[in-house]
Amino acid sequence: MRAHEAGALHADINARGPAWLREPVDANALVPHLWPGTAEKVDGVLHVGGTDLRALAAEVGTPAYVLDEEDFRSRARAFRDAFSSYDVFYAGKAFLCTTVARWVAEEGLGLDVCSGGELTVALRAGTDPARIGFHGNNKSTAELRAALEAGVGRIVLDSFDEIARLERLTAELGRVAPVMVRVTAGVEAHTHEYIATAHEDQKFGFSINAGDALAAVRQVHGSEGFELLGLHSHIGSQIFDTSGFEVAARRVLALQGRVRDELGVEMPELDLGGGFGIAYTLQDDPADPKDLASELTSIVEQECRARGLAVPRLAIEPGRAIVGPAMCSLYEVGTVKKVALDGGAVRTYVSVDGGMSDNIRTALYDADYSATLASRSSDAPVVLGRVVGKHCEAGDILVKDEFLPGDVAPGDLLAVPGTGAYCWSMASNYNHALRPPVVAVRGGSARVVVRRETVEDLLATDTGAGTGADPTQEREQ
Ligand code: LLP
Repeated sequence: MRAHEAGALHADINARGPAWLREPVDANALVPHLWPGTAEKVDGVLHVGGTDLRALAAEVGTPAYVLDEEDFRSRARAFRDAFSSYDVFYAGKAFLCTTVARWVAEEGLGLDVCSGGELTVALRAGTDPARIGFHGNNKSTAELRAALEAGVGRIVLDSFDEIARLERLTAELGRVAPVMVRVTAGVEAHTHEYIATAHEDQKFGFSINAGDALAAVRQVHGSEGFELLGLHSHIGSQIFDTSGFEVAARRVLALQGRVRDELGVEMPELDLGGGFGIAYTLQDDPADPKDLASELTSIVEQECRARGLAVPRLAIEPGRAIVGPAMCSLYEVGTVKKVALDGGAVRTYVSVDGGMSDNIRTALYDADYSATLASRSSDAPVVLGRVVGKHCEAGDILVKDEFLPGDVAPGDLLAVPGTGAYCWSMASNYNHALRPPVVAVRGGSARVVVRRETVEDLLATDTGAGTGADPTQEREQ
């Protein structure tokens, strides 16, 4: 069993933090590769997209997510250009709103969705349905129907139940569904267990090993309701080296060969999924999209050559690597507490006005983040800080270890980089927190692309049944 976050961390009494953390030469300076491309400090104040974040905080409040439009677009373009012979789908689960769906289309990428909700956002944004891929291990009949009626370009089949469900729908609607078969290649990606998806003992896809994948392909091939595009494999997330893709590609292409031998068809496409890692802290050293593209392509070409297969049209689905570094979170410090640890060390707990409701990743995956003082410069000697939220839970930690100026105080702003992926999208109303806005910045102007929730939003689903009052209205005292 994994130790509880708070418990495990209490046991760590090293005043210098984890081994990878280095005391900065200048705590005011940004570590460039952790931040959006346009981020800079101007007289100690963090600017992103030409926008002064202290002024922005005064205008829109905190916490807030700040999204660098140019950075997002340039990462999307970098993937599109590096993988120019591929179909590149942006994985909307990382972060999606209608504005971002439009940017994705404008930059020439397709869009990957995994729920009826994400599909609705994509369609509302005007995304060409033919360029949408639809994932999920338990898509409902209603979701499948919506995808078919919209003309979604690929539905990724994940179970025998789903094959039957979709087949019935194609007959009922008189449509042919373009589909891929999601396979599990039995690869252990070196990432957190909950975000690794291609080993055997998990819920996604059809096992190649157990023969389910071949059985699924046979079934799909034999049905009039389906157009079989190819196989789909996604091995996990926050992956840095291509060795996992190599093993997966070998197994997936072995299956492609068996299908050709047995059914006489070479499936025209192959989707390698997403999962490319980003830098959250100094520990991480992500690959350049160009290097990823040449490595993945040569892996696939080599395997195809070895089996006498034509190279299928390839696709990838990066989410985190496009939006992750494009956003940072902005918080205001509320309290600062020096906590004496066993052995004489002191940890400075800096509480901010957000927390695990706007970034659950530290608590859920033991993820590491970094932070910087965003509203001023400081010459104070650094202290080992821990940035925590305001939730009623000891594991409500945002940044486990970071050197911060020793004079950090209530009213200061802190910014946490790398929060574009799976932070807003996994945000909750825990403790009835209001989910923060997402503010897109570019060329000195700021636009709220997702507004902050209001108390009215919070109460909108609370029916008040049995209380004799409407909770959306204030009570007369
Ligand atoms: N394609 C498929 C089929 C996926 O399941 C995923 C992520 C992606 C693409 C995009 O992966 P990315 O490039 O963003 O790593 N909540 C976790 C990550 C869960 C990923 C789920 N699937 C986290 O915060 O790390």
